[in-house]
Amino acid sequence: MSIDIAVVPVAGLGTRLLPATKSQPKEMLPVGRKPVVQYVVEELTQSGINRLLFITGASKTSIENHFDTDERLIHHLRESGREEELQQLDFERRDVEYFYTRQRRQLGLGHAVLCSKSLVGSQPFVVALGDSIIGINAKSDIVQRMTEEFESSKADIVVAFEEVPKADVVRYGIAKPRGDVGTRFELEDLIEKPSVEEAPSTYAVASRYVLSPAIFEALEETEPGKGGEIQLTDAIRILLKRGAKGVGMVLPPDERRFDIGNYGSYFRAFADFALADPDYGDQLRDYLRGVL
Ligand code: UTP
Repeated sequence: MSIDIAVVPVAGLGTRLLPATKSQPKEMLPVGRKPVVQYVVEELTQSGINRLLFITGASKTSIENHFDTDERLIHHLRESGREEELQQLDFERRDVEYFYTRQRRQLGLGHAVLCSKSLVGSQPFVVALGDSIIGINAKSDIVQRMTEEFESSKADIVVAFEEVPKADVVRYGIAKPRGDVGTRFELEDLIEKPSVEEAPSTYAVASRYVLSPAIFEALEETEPGKGGEIQLTDAIRILLKRGAKGVGMVLPPDERRFDIGNYGSYFRAFADFALADPDYGDQLRDYLRGVL
């Protein structure tokens, strides 16, 4: 059976984006015309995912509302003949099942993934971070390529990676590849936020994973790591050390990752998406030329 379930962690506190995230989820911040998490869902559904489990927390109910059908709004738009706006709600009617569970304490990404254990059970699954978009307007089928790789190479773990400047390795989980690196490589190890000297490569984890259910046992054994949080990378490491087969897949430049976790990267993502807007991109480009 092909992999059709994705866990989307959206329970983080988003403290680096305060005050914007005080009472609204960072995953609902707009990038161009859509909230970040809508791009994530669109990317996943075009890669064959039709069951989505959100790991949510307090102040995250607007995510559930966003993916629910809003009959009153539909009725209002239909009555007033606003077909174009109605089309903007097409995503509500996707053939997708949504599930929500709460991470009651924000103990880290690994802990958030562990909260999916009873729903996911004994099947392989995708993890897609709700605060990262892959490719402009989410035009990426990386998750499909990853699930195919998982199945064809009988892997236990497939992780997407993006090349980052050497100085930035301190902010990410970094791959230790075994052998040659092309568009894919064998993953020997993963180091969470290494120093520039320690970093075994410049391939940074890019917020998409395909995991075997063995990860749950590894997460249960994982001690809190950097920042006192239970890190998903540490659990992946446990599996790799025990001989699990890991594969890294490198994102091509046209499928780069837009992470909106801090204001620097959020502003850049917004600018890229606004500049790519079919109606307003050119006007904005002219405006910015004037400003600069
Ligand atoms: P981050 O590592 O950016 O953490 O989360 P954060 O808590 O959201 O943000 P800061 O550091 O306070 O600014 C990466 C992804 O993992 C989810 C987040 O919602 C985000 O989508 N996450 C993180 C959880 O679901 N639970 C956690 O305990 C931590």
